[in-house]
Amino acid sequence: MMKPAPRETILSLFSQTPDGFVSGERISAELGISRTAVWKHIRNLRQAGYRIEAVPSRGYHLLQSPDILMPEAIQAGLASRRIGCLVRCFEATDSTNLQACRLGDGGDPEGLVVIADRQSSGKGRMGRQWVSPGGVNLYASILLRPPIPPFEAPRLTFLSAVAVCRAITRCTGLRPTVKWPNDVLLQGAKVAGLLNEMSSETDRVHYVVLGIGVNLNMRQEQFPADLRYPATSIALASGRPVSRLDFTRILLQETDALYQVYLERGSAPVLAAWTELCDLVGKLVHADCNQLQIEGTMIGLAEDGALLVRTATGKIESVYAGDVRAV
Ligand code: BTN
Repeated sequence: MMKPAPRETILSLFSQTPDGFVSGERISAELGISRTAVWKHIRNLRQAGYRIEAVPSRGYHLLQSPDILMPEAIQAGLASRRIGCLVRCFEATDSTNLQACRLGDGGDPEGLVVIADRQSSGKGRMGRQWVSPGGVNLYASILLRPPIPPFEAPRLTFLSAVAVCRAITRCTGLRPTVKWPNDVLLQGAKVAGLLNEMSSETDRVHYVVLGIGVNLNMRQEQFPADLRYPATSIALASGRPVSRLDFTRILLQETDALYQVYLERGSAPVLAAWTELCDLVGKLVHADCNQLQIEGTMIGLAEDGALLVRTATGKIESVYAGDVRAV
């Protein structure tokens, strides 16, 4: 395991103390550096936007962290086995999925998380663009190297959908729903989109990239006027801004916990958790599968993640790709 950077250690010390105070002495002992060197690190943190006061005889007190996504801030206090072992943050990039694929090809480890403040070519489903303005949302890609055959990989989308829902509930108390195959909705409007990409050979996955875009603090005027579906952000739905840093940490922890379940017990518990979050189960739905239009009652998910729809004739259709909506 690599030794954490001094800045990461200091932030982690702040997150461990109940009153937010850490003495210069403690930092200096923890890092094995002089008090002057400690002071220089504190000055650097202040310059990076952290508000830290120095209180005589009590120590340093972290008052506020900037809502910028930096590896050391994300990793400070991150309770996770794999996901987030390596975090790479970009101020701007083409697409975090593309970056994660490049890094995956270059041998970066399972658990790598790529985050960008903004994306110039954010990738959505079916070759669409994912609108990715800076400073407001989360654009993240997680690199996994699961020991599975390629046909199983699409099931991992359900894992990220459940993790996003759990993170939203933990941060806001709101109850999001999921829409097959890879949307998360708040109050019926899309708040997050998921796009997985994979590199594999016939019977072995090299890596899967879980691409996760969550509209956190996006304002109404930042959504394109011609969106094909109603969209929202967590802030618009809850009426309160959400900390990008807290949300990111919680999302990574939830994804990590679910991935552990998936590795130990397979996809069934993940698909069951997804089904619980889907409010279209038992309802009449229309599936638009390019050439084929299917209408019927949504029963749930098959073992392989296909959407099961019972048509008026009683036949059960399995839908593998397309768009689904309530009738
Ligand atoms: C969708 O169309 O619903 C999927 C959108 C996925 C967007 C995310 S943002 C982070 C990651 N990087 C990308 O380029 N796309 C995904």
